[in-house]
Amino acid sequence: MVKVNNAEELLNLYAAGEKDFQNSDLTAANLQGANLRYINLTGATLKRADLSSADLRNALLLRANLSNAMLNKANLSQANMTRADLSRAVMTKANFTKATMLRVDLSGSILLEANLENARLREANLKDANLRGANLEKANFTQAQYNYKTLFPEDFDPVKATKTFYPDYPIPTNVNDAEGWNYFWKYIISMYPEELLFDLFDDSDFLIPFLKKLGYQTILCAGNGISLEPYALAYAGFDVTALDVSGYANQYVSNYKISDKELKYISYFSDLNIEEISTEILQKVKTVKFVTGSICDADICPGLFDVIITRRTVQLFNIISQEQVIAAMQSLLNRLSPTGLLINHGHNAYAINDFLQNWLLSRGIFASNKINDKLQHQNQKFVYFKGTSG
Ligand SMILES: C[S@@+](CC[C@H](N)C(=O)[O-])C[C@H]1O[C@@H](n2cnc3c(N)ncnc32)[C@H](O)[C@@H]1O
Repeated sequence: MVKVNNAEELLNLYAAGEKDFQNSDLTAANLQGANLRYINLTGATLKRADLSSADLRNALLLRANLSNAMLNKANLSQANMTRADLSRAVMTKANFTKATMLRVDLSGSILLEANLENARLREANLKDANLRGANLEKANFTQAQYNYKTLFPEDFDPVKATKTFYPDYPIPTNVNDAEGWNYFWKYIISMYPEELLFDLFDDSDFLIPFLKKLGYQTILCAGNGISLEPYALAYAGFDVTALDVSGYANQYVSNYKISDKELKYISYFSDLNIEEISTEILQKVKTVKFVTGSICDADICPGLFDVIITRRTVQLFNIISQEQVIAAMQSLLNRLSPTGLLINHGHNAYAINDFLQNWLLSRGIFASNKINDKLQHQNQKFVYFKGTSG
């Protein structure tokens, strides 16, 4: 074993046949395109090193520190990176096929179009990582950690792959657990105070004119959490009720002081000039009724409502069972007017949406993932399934 502290020394010794460089300090070393097959860099420091296009097949990089390193197009096939720190490393098009990456820290890293086929990433940290276009075929992500900023390839289902919801979000496994949801929202609000309220009603620029065209008036936002969607809808002139099992979420959002940025956002959906209307918006948004209770309780907000919007909520009942998903959907349908529109937004839940859509169709209730299909079914109940991933 030799401990080196610069790239030249490493390359010379490697060329002479040495492979064992454990605990070396190669901070910011330039090892671009280097042939380092079977090298042992266990415990080494390679922070900010440039290993682009390097051949690191079968390398041992256990506990190595590669934070902020450049590994674009590097070949790490069958390398062992268990517990290595690859946080904020840039690894576009790198090859990790059959690599062992247990508990590796990939937070904030860029893995665009990387090949992770058959890689073992159990308990890896993927928070804030960008894996767009990566090949994750047969990769093992059991209990990998991710968050709402992690970007996965389209069609990848992280809940299924990791066998867990956002592990840094304490989602209650009993959906009706009000205290659990209060805890969840306290936690989320304290962790992400700035970012959360805004992105939560993603298709409203289309939605509001569509709902108006159909002449709807009353809307129930079921499982609203702390979304500002009810405010945007109220401002647009609808009579809005927000229902959530979490009293904490309701209290938070009902007392929430809407920022200028958010006012602008809300007014954008109503095509109005923010300079003239902020007090008017504030008056209208005050008309939203916040109700604390479960959608499973038929006495709460019995309706009937013209429109029910539920985002990322019905899918949670799948944690308990498929029967509970159906029961949740049924409880919402019971509150819908005979000509109403129910919007069920599933996030990373395409399979659950498909299952529910088939269940509804088999019972003669119109359901589609195209909202415009409602126009052909104006006199009947209609369920629109919206799906997003990421
Ligand atoms: C994942 S959050 C989604 C919040 C919001 N719709 C969004 O998309 O950001 C699920 C919400 O459903 C609420 N919830 C869970 N079970 C419920 C139930 N049985 N009845 C009403 N709300 C429920 C939770 O308190 C939480 O606010």
